[in-house]
Amino acid sequence: RKKVTLTTLERTYRRQVPITVMTAHDYPSAVFVDKSGIDMCLVGDSLAMVALGYDNTNRITLDEMLHHCRAVARGSKHPFLVGDLPFGSYEASPSHALSSSIRMIREGHMEAVKLEGGVEMAETIHKITSVGIPVLGHVGLTPQRAAALGGFRVQGKTMEKAKKLIEDALAVQEAGAFAIVLEAVPEVVAKEITNSLKVPTIGIGAGAGCSGQVLVQLDMLGVYDKLMPKFCKLYAEVGKATIAGLEQYVQEVKNGSFPESGTHTYPMEKGEEEKFLK
Ligand code: KIV
Ligand code: NA
Repeated sequence: RKKVTLTTLERTYRRQVPITVMTAHDYPSAVFVDKSGIDMCLVGDSLAMVALGYDNTNRITLDEMLHHCRAVARGSKHPFLVGDLPFGSYEASPSHALSSSIRMIREGHMEAVKLEGGVEMAETIHKITSVGIPVLGHVGLTPQRAAALGGFRVQGKTMEKAKKLIEDALAVQEAGAFAIVLEAVPEVVAKEITNSLKVPTIGIGAGAGCSGQVLVQLDMLGVYDKLMPKFCKLYAEVGKATIAGLEQYVQEVKNGSFPESGTHTYPMEKGEEEKFLK
C-alpha cells in the first residue's frame, strides 16, 4: 500500500470516490486505521472525551494532544495524518495559531492540522496554509463551541443558518483549506455545500452527499460508554467483547483454570527440575 498524500486525496475526490477518514488516539488505534485501508487518520480532540474521560473536548491542552499525535504517527504509516488544534491553541491570533500548527508538525509528527470555525477563522487558515501547512476546516457543529451553540445540536436547520454555513465553508475554502469537515448538518444542506465547493467535504452526521466520511473510532467500535450520537453507526461491539474477555479471565484465575500448566508456563532445563526439587 502506498502512502496517502494530498495529491492522492485530490485524485480520489476528482474520481468521485468517497474519502474515508477515521480517528485514532494512540498506537494500537492508529495501527488499526493503517491496516484497514483508511485514507486519512485524524487525531481528533474528541479523544479528550472518548479516550481520556473528560466531559468535554475543551479540557485537553496542545501538549497533551502532541503526546497522542506522536503515538498515532508511530502506528499509522500510510494514511494522511491530521492533528486537531485543541481549544485555546489557535483562537487568540493567526500567529499563535501558526506557532501551534508548527508544533503539531514538528512535535506531533502530523502532516496537517484541523481547526474549527468559518468566516472568522479565514485569516488564520490563510496564515497557516501560506507557509505550507495544510489545513482541514471544520464547520457546522463545532464541539469546542458547544456552550455558545447551546449544546451538541444540529447546525443549519433554517434557510438563513444554512446560507451562513455555505458562506463559512466558502470562506474556509478561499483561505486555503484542502478539505472541510461538516458536522451535524442536515443532509440537504451538506449536499448543497459539497456541490458549491472545489475541495472535498468530509461529513459526520451530514449524509452520503459529502465527498467523504469520518467517524470517531471508539464510538463506532462500541468502546465509549457514554451516549452515542444519532449519526454514528455501531460497526463492532469491542467494549462488550472486552468486558466478556476480562470477566472470563477473572473467573479462570479465581477457579485456578488459568494459567494452564504446560501451555502458559515454562519448564526448567532438562534434568534440573528433579535436582531442584530434591
Ligand atoms: O475530534 C474529532 O474526532 C473530530 C471529528 C469528529 C471530525 O473533530
Ligand atoms: Na475535534
